Amino acid sequence: MKIGIIGGTGDIGEGIALRVSDRHEIILGSRDPAKAVETAEKIIDILKERGITGNCRGTTNEDAVKEAELVVISLPFQHVASTLAGINPEYFENKIVISPVNPMERKDGCFMYCPPDEGSAALAIKKMLPESARLVTAFNNIAARKWAKLDVILDYTVAVTSDDAEAKKKVMEFVSEISKLQPVDAGKLDVACIVESLTPLTINIAQNSKLKDLSIYMK
Ligand SMILES: NC(=O)c1ccc[n+]([C@@H]2O[C@H](COP(=O)([O-])OP(=O)(O)OC[C@H]3O[C@@H](n4cnc5c(N)ncnc54)[C@H](OP(=O)(O)O)[C@@H]3O)[C@@H](O)[C@H]2O)c1
Repeated sequence: MKIGIIGGTGDIGEGIALRVSDRHEIILGSRDPAKAVETAEKIIDILKERGITGNCRGTTNEDAVKEAELVVISLPFQHVASTLAGINPEYFENKIVISPVNPMERKDGCFMYCPPDEGSAALAIKKMLPESARLVTAFNNIAARKWAKLDVILDYTVAVTSDDAEAKKKVMEFVSEISKLQPVDAGKLDVACIVESLTPLTINIAQNSKLKDLSIYMK
């Protein structure tokens, strides 16, 4: 599958690319295509050292969406609206779009969930995309550094939400291909706020307990 990652040079974009570019074609997007090419080359080199052939290349955010069958929005929430406004909406038509986006801010040393008026990043992003785009939330609660350490088994739960049952099923299948991730159906997009808000919670717990890169495992 061709997977386009908007903001693909960032921590989550790189991490996902490292984990799946052995079996999918990954197209990293960036405001600066040279930066995306450099990141893609770095990913290919890391995989090569492990004897793995990675299929990963870099381009602009718009081309990453245009060429992809599935799109991941890997941007800080505050940059999503301006970035999506610069991409031809037609390129999103009928495509599955994954949002791992968690709107949060640091206040007095503590991370707070700061959703927009729509109630969650997911509901705000849904309004920014054409109606035929099939928005699914996933990967909101896995720390980027866990993705990047290829020796680390990702034995975590991935809560997936969407209003599109078929798109949700496809994303759950994609999630279950990666390490030992366990996708769970968390419901419709309306409940994405609950999933998004768990990440500032885990970061605060990690800070207060001197733990690192907490992610969620449900049993
Ligand atoms: N980090 C985590 O552990 C983690 C875990 C779960 C979920 N998430 C969520 O995943 C999303 C991505 O997180 P991340 O940590 O990967 O983000 P990040 O590394 O801070 O940023 C991702 C990319 O956003 C682009 N960007 C930065 N400023 C921008 C601007 N002003 N306008 C347009 N693009 C800009 C940059 O790409 P270019 O400079 O190449 O354009 C950057 O590489 C976030 O919404 C976060 O809440 C993160």
